[in-house]
Amino acid sequence: MHTRANNITVGYGDQGTGLPIVFLHAFPLNRTMWATQEKALSSQFRIITIDLRGHGESDAPLWRYTLDQSADDVNALLDQLAIQRAVFVGLSMGGYILFAFYRKYAARVKGLILADTKAQADTEEGKNGRIQLAQIAYRKGPSAIADGMIPKLLSPATIQTNPDLVRQVRAMIEGNQISGIAGDLMAMAERPDSVPLLSQITCPTRIIVGELDQATPPSDAKLMADQIPNARLTIIPNAAHLANLEQPEAFNRIVAAFASELSK
Ligand code: MLT
Repeated sequence: MHTRANNITVGYGDQGTGLPIVFLHAFPLNRTMWATQEKALSSQFRIITIDLRGHGESDAPLWRYTLDQSADDVNALLDQLAIQRAVFVGLSMGGYILFAFYRKYAARVKGLILADTKAQADTEEGKNGRIQLAQIAYRKGPSAIADGMIPKLLSPATIQTNPDLVRQVRAMIEGNQISGIAGDLMAMAERPDSVPLLSQITCPTRIIVGELDQATPPSDAKLMADQIPNARLTIIPNAAHLANLEQPEAFNRIVAAFASELSK
């Protein structure tokens, strides 16, 4: 489905009924990374998946944008769907956007699941890495981004034994427009430090991380779990950065239990 929000087209999915759970995807993927969650959880909950600006069926603006604007897009979509409050799940960049969303729209957040993400801003080295990656995207296209990123997103065992999943992730990355890849890289480089926000997050929070995640390792997850007052951490074995794709059953169990508790 599509709608217009903040002068761009936004692609989204809306399946099932019950407590709404809004899923925000990682960089540089799209909302189809949540297909397994949508299938498993929409019999119990209303599952909203959004193509964040720059990705999937949403527009990839040619001009600079920020993660705050991505949070505004999510907020506008919820207005249009008449959803007042929801549980939010954000993985990696999706988590960065949830911090921006929480700063502006905390009243809408019934519960937060922060998966394979981190609160710290980029280091100078990290920002430079993003500029290099944007250059690669312009010079060589999204398939070069896929070549570089897949080993950071999936564990070596997944890469060796699950070629279908590797193909699926590659197709998501290669489906991106270059303006979306570069736009996100600049937006992530500019995002503020969210560590000072952590102690102010008052809603129930679950932190999830793949034990093999090198992009946002368990130490980053522990930092969030230590500083968010009402948070609990689960480390998923045999998963790297895309824990929801590598270990969907474990991931779905955590989301279902958390949302069921909040439905009472
Ligand atoms: C993601 O998965 O969204 C990215 O790894 C986030 C990042 O590059 O910081």
